[in-house]
Amino acid sequence: MRGMPMKIKVDFGNRDISYNIEIKSYLLDSIGKILQKKRNYSKIVILTNEIVFPLWYKKLNLSLSNAGHKIEVIVIPDGEKQKCIKTYNQIISQMLKDKIDRYSALIPLGGGVIGDLGGYIASTYMRGIDLIHVPTTLVAQIDSSIGGKLAIDHPQAKNIIGNFYNPAQVFTDPNILSTLNDREFRCGLFEAIKIALVSSQKLYAFITENFDSILNRKKRIIQKLVTDCVQEKVMIVKQDPFDQNRRMILNFGHTFGHALETASNYRKISHGEAVGWGMLLALHISDILKIFDLQKNRNMYVLIRNMLNIRDLKKLDPEQIWKTILLDKKARDGNARFILLKKAGKPVMQVVSKRTFMKAVSRI
Ligand code: NAD
Ligand code: GLY
Repeated sequence: MRGMPMKIKVDFGNRDISYNIEIKSYLLDSIGKILQKKRNYSKIVILTNEIVFPLWYKKLNLSLSNAGHKIEVIVIPDGEKQKCIKTYNQIISQMLKDKIDRYSALIPLGGGVIGDLGGYIASTYMRGIDLIHVPTTLVAQIDSSIGGKLAIDHPQAKNIIGNFYNPAQVFTDPNILSTLNDREFRCGLFEAIKIALVSSQKLYAFITENFDSILNRKKRIIQKLVTDCVQEKVMIVKQDPFDQNRRMILNFGHTFGHALETASNYRKISHGEAVGWGMLLALHISDILKIFDLQKNRNMYVLIRNMLNIRDLKKLDPEQIWKTILLDKKARDGNARFILLKKAGKPVMQVVSKRTFMKAVSRI
C-alpha cells in the first residue's frame, strides 16, 4: 500500500477529455502537490457535507494549502435530498460570492451525492470549470466518480436533470473508507456486486471468495476490490462514454432501484440498498422470462438478499413504482426496459411488461 499510486487512465484518445484516476491509501496528503504540478488554479472550491467535513476536510485543506492553493469551502447538509435544484442554486450563489472564476476548480469531497451535485455544478458554472473528484464512499470510489455522469433529482424522477462531463482528475484514497459506517459500506458492496455480475466472472469470484475479509475491511482486500472495480468500470465507460449501448449494463438493478428511491421521497432507502432490491427483482424477472435459472444460482440471490432489510419494502405500492419505472431513462416508446442477467458476466437489456413486473414483485 506504500509507494506510487496506481494510475488508471481513462483514455478517449482525446487529451481534452481523457483523465487519470489515481488510487492509493493516504493519497489525500499528496493531492496538493500533485495538482500544483498540473495547473495553477486561481482558487479551489471544496464542496462537502456536514458529515464528511469534520472527518476529512482538514487533511485535504492542509494538503492543498501547503502546496500554495487558495481554498474556499462550501458545506451543505447530508442526504440525497440535497441533489436538487434549490441546493444547486444556493451553491452557485455562494460560488459567485466567493469569486470563483473560470480558472478555478471544484472538488466534491464526499460520496455520490456530493459527487453528482458538485459535478453538475462544475459542468455548468460559467459553462464549465475543472472538476476534481475526491470520492469518500465505496459507491463513489468504484462507481460515481468514474465516467462523467452527473445529475440532480426531480421530485418525479431520479437523476433526470444532468449531463456528461469528465473530471480533470480523480483521487481515490481507500483509507478514507475507514470512517464509513457498516450500512454505508454495504451500500458500496451492492455496486461492487453489480459491476461484477454484469461484466466480470473473475471479479464476482473474488468478491464471493473474500466476502468475510471484505466485510471485515481487510485493507489489502479493500484496496484490490476498489482497484478491480475501477478497472472494470473504466473498461466499460471507454467503450461507450455516452451510455448509448454497452454502458447501459451498469444500470443492472437501477430501474427498480431508482423508482424505489423516488417513491421514498429520496429519504428512507439509500441508493445502494435500492440497487440491491433492484438486482433481486431483475433476477426474478430473468427467471420468469426463462433466460436465467434462479434455482441454480441460489447463492447469488442469497448473497444479495442477506444484506437487505425487508422493512425497506414495507410500504411498496407496485402500481406507483411501475408509473415511475416508465419515466426511467432507458424507457423507449413507452416501454420499460430492464437490464437482466443470463448468468454472471452475461447481461442483456429487454423490454419487460407490467404483468411480468407485477409477478416478479410478488416474489421478492
Ligand atoms: P452519499 O453520498 O449520500 O453517502 C452516503 C453516506 O455516507 C452519507 O451520509 C455521507 O455523508 C456519508 N459519508 C460519505 N463519506 C463518508 C466517510 N468517508 N465516512 C463517513 N461517512 C461518509 O451516498 P453514496 O452511496 O455515496 O452515493 C449515492 C449517490 O450516488 C446517489 O445519488 C446515486 O444516484 C449516485 N450515483 C451516481 C453514479 C454516477 O455514475 N454518477 C453512480 C452510482 C451512484
Ligand atoms: N453508474 C452507471 C454509469 O456510470 O453508467
